[in-house]
Amino acid sequence: MNTPELGLPMPVPAAGLPARVRIHEVGARDGLQNEKATVPTAVKAEFIRRLADTGLTTIEATSFVHPKWVPQLADAEELYPQISDLPVSLPVLVPNERGLDRALALGARRVAVFASATESFAKANLNRTVDESLAMFEPVVSRAKGEGDVHVRGYLSMCFGDPWEGPVPVPQVVRVCRALLDMGCDELSLGDTIGVATPGQVTALLAALTEAGVPVSALGVHFHDTYGQALANTLAALQQGVSTVDASAGGLGGCPFAKSATGNLATEDLVWMLRGLGIDTGVDLGRLVATSVWMAAHLGRPSPSRTVRALSHQES
Ligand code: HMG
Ligand code: MG
Repeated sequence: MNTPELGLPMPVPAAGLPARVRIHEVGARDGLQNEKATVPTAVKAEFIRRLADTGLTTIEATSFVHPKWVPQLADAEELYPQISDLPVSLPVLVPNERGLDRALALGARRVAVFASATESFAKANLNRTVDESLAMFEPVVSRAKGEGDVHVRGYLSMCFGDPWEGPVPVPQVVRVCRALLDMGCDELSLGDTIGVATPGQVTALLAALTEAGVPVSALGVHFHDTYGQALANTLAALQQGVSTVDASAGGLGGCPFAKSATGNLATEDLVWMLRGLGIDTGVDLGRLVATSVWMAAHLGRPSPSRTVRALSHQES
C-alpha cells in the first residue's frame, strides 16, 4: 500500500496519464521578466542554481531580446556565463537573428522563438504581424538547426483567449503551430498567456492539433493561473498525452505586453498534483519550496503558490 510522507500527498495513480512529466521551469525568465525592480544578476544566478539543485532538468534562463523591451532581462550576457556550467538544459528566448547571435556567442544549446496566434499580441510583443514574425523566426530556426543542431522550442501565445480579440478560433492556432513545426521547431509550447482557458478548450485544441497531424509528443503546455484554472487545464492536457508542462517556481510571473496576465502555474502546485498522481518528476518539493521562499524574500512579497504557502507557513 502507498504511504503518505509528511508534507507530500498520498500517491494514488490514475489511468491514462503519462508515467513521467518533464517540467520546463520558466521562473527565471517568464517569472522575472515582469518585475519592476531590477533583480541583481547574482540573485538570478543563485535562483537558477538553487532550481537546478531541486532536480529540475530544464530551466529557462533568460531572453536575448531588445533590452529596452524587457529591461529586467537586459543582463542576459552577464547572467548566462554564471550558470552555463550547470548540468541541466538552459533554454533562452531569441526573437530574431540578433538574439540568436547573442545566445550562440555564449554557447547556448537550446533556444526558443515565440510566436502569437493573434495579430494584436504579435504587434504588442514583437512589433510585427503574425506572418512577419514567422518570417523573422524562419532564419533563426534554420540557422539554429543548421549550425550545430541547437534545440529549438516554438512558443505560441494566446492559444485560447486574447485581451484585445477575445476567444481565439482553434484553426488560427493550428495554422501557426503547423508553421512553427514546418519551419523546424523541435517542440511547441501552447501558451494560455492570460490564463483564461478552461479544460474543455484544452481538450478541443489538442484534438484539433492531433487531427492536423501534430504529434502530441512535440507539444508542451504553458498555463498562466489568472483564473485558477492552470492545474485543471494541465490535467486535461495530460489526459490527452502531453508530458511536457511549463511552470514557474512560486508562481512568479506575468507578461509585460499583456496586462491581464498573472504568474504561471506554480511549479510547487504542479509537483504536488503529479506526485499525488504517482507521476515522476524528479523534483524535490521541499527544496523547491525553500527556493521560492528565498526568492520571495528577495522580491519582498510572499509567493502566490498555494503549495508554497501551505508547506512554508509563509506570512501572507
Ligand atoms: P523592433 O523595435 O521592431 O526591432 O523590436 P528592430 O528589428 O526594428 O530593431 C530595432 C533595434 O533593436 C536595432 O538597433 C536592433 O539591432 C535592435 P539599432 O540598429 O536601432 O541600434 N535589436 C536587438 N538588440 C538586442 N537584442 C535583440 C535585438 N533585436 C533587435 N534580440 C523585437 C522587435 C523582436 C526585437 C522586440 O519586439 C523585442 O525584443 N520583443 C521581445 C518581447 C518579449 O521578450 N516578450 C516577452 C516574452 S514572450 C512571453 O512572455 C510569452 C510566453 O511566456 C508564452 C505565453 O505565456 O504565452 C513565451
Ligand atoms: Mg508565459
